Amino acid sequence: MAQNWTPTSWRQKPIQQVPDYPDLAALAATEERLAKFPPLVFAGEARRLKSALANVAEGKGFLLQGGDCAESFAEHGADTIRDFFRAFLQMAVVLTFGAQQPVVKVGRIAGQFAKPRSSNIEKQGDVSLPSYRGDIINGIEFTEDARIPNPERQLMAYRQSAATLNLLRAFAMGGYANLDNVHQWMLGFIKDSPQAERYRKLADRISETMDFMKAIGITSENHPNLRETDFFTSHEALLLGYEQALTRVDSTSGDWYATSGHMIWIGDRTRQPDHAHIEYCRGIKNPLGLKCGPSLTGDGLLELIDLLNPQNEAGRLTLICRFGHDKVAENLPRLIRAVEREGKKVVWSCDPMHGNTITLNNYKTRPFERILSEVESFFQIHRSEGTHPGGIHVEMTGNDVTECTGGARALSGDDLADRYHTHCDPRLNADQALELAFLLAERMKGGRDEKRMVVNG
Ligand code: PEP
Ligand code: CO
Repeated sequence: MAQNWTPTSWRQKPIQQVPDYPDLAALAATEERLAKFPPLVFAGEARRLKSALANVAEGKGFLLQGGDCAESFAEHGADTIRDFFRAFLQMAVVLTFGAQQPVVKVGRIAGQFAKPRSSNIEKQGDVSLPSYRGDIINGIEFTEDARIPNPERQLMAYRQSAATLNLLRAFAMGGYANLDNVHQWMLGFIKDSPQAERYRKLADRISETMDFMKAIGITSENHPNLRETDFFTSHEALLLGYEQALTRVDSTSGDWYATSGHMIWIGDRTRQPDHAHIEYCRGIKNPLGLKCGPSLTGDGLLELIDLLNPQNEAGRLTLICRFGHDKVAENLPRLIRAVEREGKKVVWSCDPMHGNTITLNNYKTRPFERILSEVESFFQIHRSEGTHPGGIHVEMTGNDVTECTGGARALSGDDLADRYHTHCDPRLNADQALELAFLLAERMKGGRDEKRMVVNG
């Protein structure tokens, strides 16, 4: 129903979170160049993700979405990408085993550069400068020069996304993701990880199963899905000039697709129904995410669902709920009931990061126990509403950073200074990410056993 929609129609609408580019002619020239660059992803891939998500919406799968809060130019390198992919694959294997359901793998990567900010200004001492908005817009250094939005950065973000995606495709399809390697993924993982023993046991069981399958003739050589995996990319569609430049018509269907990533989402600060971000997103055919924070009402959500998914197509829309451990019980049930009442098809995902940020010793951090607590509540609420807790959305890295407190190593506020590397929000380190996956697997297994009891009882 995309009435009067064009890739530029968002420009007629009010808009939030726009960088103050001093040179608009240079910005327009950059966007023109980008519009001639090759697409980063293809429409057929976005359709494949949408159909995988449609299964999740119907209760037959689980979405694992995670990665950096903000990718950075400085940390672009093969090791960072490999370490992330390895931690992510480990989580996925733990979840697949726990849920005994397909896990749809979507990274916050290869395009996750632009950041919405609560304030336009950052103050340090007596100095006030424009806020950092992500490497695609300006620099993180606290200097006047660095903070000036520079369109050239969009070209760098595009090239970094292309290189990242190239390596990810090789990892996913070229043998690294082969389930025969399930033990090897642990090598090179953080030394003495408290999760190592648990993971090794699970990997042993998978290897045993693989040996059995080999004995009956099913091997990774003759079954590509044992040696390859579908891995998709996603980011917040915040910088709409960049998104527009990469919006292309799919020659097969004649539809418009965002080719900057497979899935894009709308942030909690830019989801006003009559504003630019909703306008842009309603017209492209990719799977969409919508961040749902405490200020969203049931009716507000239904209005957005009608704009973004008027055909009620399963897999089109993922609701990424981010309330906070102490607010989820008060906010989630009313959204679930509104959606159920109107029979809307959505994937329910839990972002336990963005509602649980606190400041400790001058660092933004997130206590791991609050993250777990929000996830637990999310699962419990879905169980009692009879709906499918379909996914998780986390900020994580494959490295041994000290950004979130707690976890099996009991990181404290005093540890934060050791390896605090994030360019924006605090991420789970590889250990904490794996610990979270084990907890999720247990919850999903619990849900399965409950269902069985209902069927048998
Ligand atoms: C984010 O995902 O990094 C983010 C800014 O989230 P939200 O829009 O939910 O605050
Ligand atoms: Co964030």
